[in-house]
Amino acid sequence: MNIITLLKSDHKEVTVLFKKLLKSKTAKIKESIFSKIYKALNMHTEFEEKTFYPALKKTAKTKDLVLESYVEHDLVKVLLSDIQNISAKDELWKAKVTVLQEIIKHHVKEEEQELFPQAKRILDKNQLDIMAKQYLSFKKE
Ligand SMILES: [Fe+2]
Ligand SMILES: [Fe+2]
Repeated sequence: MNIITLLKSDHKEVTVLFKKLLKSKTAKIKESIFSKIYKALNMHTEFEEKTFYPALKKTAKTKDLVLESYVEHDLVKVLLSDIQNISAKDELWKAKVTVLQEIIKHHVKEEEQELFPQAKRILDKNQLDIMAKQYLSFKKE
């Protein structure tokens, strides 16, 4: 097991949830799917920020990319809490969800196409493995 596999599987899970969310009809279903996205993304971003990114910030090659990622996470969090605080019946709900989905799409693409391949070069197998274990126990808490 390595951390990159786990992070990628979160990305996939959230992408699927967004598709479901934008297709769902009632406010109740929308809010329930959104709360899953909210939980999944908060856990994912917190782990990346506290454990995964710091390991890659030390290297000149990935430093700028990591700093950009922190800023993108900040935007994601603003929208997450914004959406959590309004009703799915609010006229801005869909606009906010759509913008959040777009930011995440962009962010996931950067991580999977740029940051993760670099991470595989910078971190050794053991580090990737330890982080995977840390992430699994963090998720259990
Ligand atoms: Fe990620
Ligand atoms: Fe991220």
